[in-house]
Amino acid sequence: MTMAAPDPFEAAENARPFLHGQEATAMTEALQAGQYGHNLLVEQFEQSVAAYLGVSDMVAVSSGTAALHVALLAAGVGPGDEVIVPSQTYCATIHAIVASGAHPRFIEINPKTLCIEAHEVLAALTPTTRAVLPVLYGGRAVDLSSIRNELTERRIVVIEDAAHAFGSRCAGILVGAQPGVLTCFSFGPIKNLTCGQGGGVVPRTAAEADALRSLRALGITQSQHQRAATTSYTVEGFGLRATMSALNAAVGVVQLQQFEAVAAKRKDLWRAYASRLRTCAGASLVDVDVDRTVPFNCVVHVDDRDRVFTELRELGIGVGVHYPPNHTQPAFERWYRPLPITEQSGQQLMSLPFHPAMTEEDARYVCLALARALRKGSPCAS
Ligand SMILES: Cc1ncc(COP(=O)(O)O)c(C=O)c1O
Repeated sequence: MTMAAPDPFEAAENARPFLHGQEATAMTEALQAGQYGHNLLVEQFEQSVAAYLGVSDMVAVSSGTAALHVALLAAGVGPGDEVIVPSQTYCATIHAIVASGAHPRFIEINPKTLCIEAHEVLAALTPTTRAVLPVLYGGRAVDLSSIRNELTERRIVVIEDAAHAFGSRCAGILVGAQPGVLTCFSFGPIKNLTCGQGGGVVPRTAAEADALRSLRALGITQSQHQRAATTSYTVEGFGLRATMSALNAAVGVVQLQQFEAVAAKRKDLWRAYASRLRTCAGASLVDVDVDRTVPFNCVVHVDDRDRVFTELRELGIGVGVHYPPNHTQPAFERWYRPLPITEQSGQQLMSLPFHPAMTEEDARYVCLALARALRKGSPCAS
């Protein structure tokens, strides 16, 4: 069978931002208007996201990592506290926990979703558990409602890492709009919704929103506008420099206006992949309910992953590995515990190129190349 890459070939990169053209204009206009730092455009972005989600507030910050960090601090998580978290996540999740002074307690994932489940959380609770931090891997919502009462009784907070999950739904409700949950988004370059760089936290209460705004701005509670008119300011508490810039917010405002179209492209691409991968011998698709999920990536488990990965890379196909598990990383190994499912999955998982500029033809080509690479490694291959 001959295999020619589509022209143009959009699957050379694993992921990339999807821009509409108006982002550059919006940034230029912000610069021309003297809006660079944290100001009205950021508020506009915050209000637009809050309106989209149907919540009363969203606090924009400089990155998804910063969102997790300030959310943990605002929830009162700190030294001596344990945070239940999957090892299967980007290292940023774990760094945020460690930066708060707490420590991670790694738990297993369901290999079919790459997400944690309520029963694993329950089994891992200890007297020092202060937070549960589910990672909404690939955009999949994690439903912990069945153990919500137990968590509340023990004063354990749920802080979602929804870096991948903007636009997804859990039981019909948009991620970020679940009551009682602190949700953290990343608006990084390749995320479902991008600001170029950025993040956001959906607070549970107005007081928590105030705490987050103070934490992101060096503990100074007066707004820039208020400060400009006085000779001093007050540092009310500890804070980070984690504000979002107006330039990033300008990109985010445009991206949000186009979000539904981008979400539809991601879903279409997912369906194009899934229809082929569900019958691809040797590759096990990490599936998703695409009706309620805006997929962030497309992951398969394959044996002999490193060989298959290299062969696809040699063909110019942008496969990736998201992510090597964290509990075996040198920085986090003092919290190591055996996680056989995560470890096996970590040896087998491979992300196929996935971004909204890709076409069905690109997905077809990637799947054919994958099937061919898998056949080469099979004992029946000639
Ligand atoms: C699961 C997860 N959590 C957190 C982050 C951190 O987000 P950011 O890169 O915006 O700091 C990422 C970024 O890729 C991520 O994938």
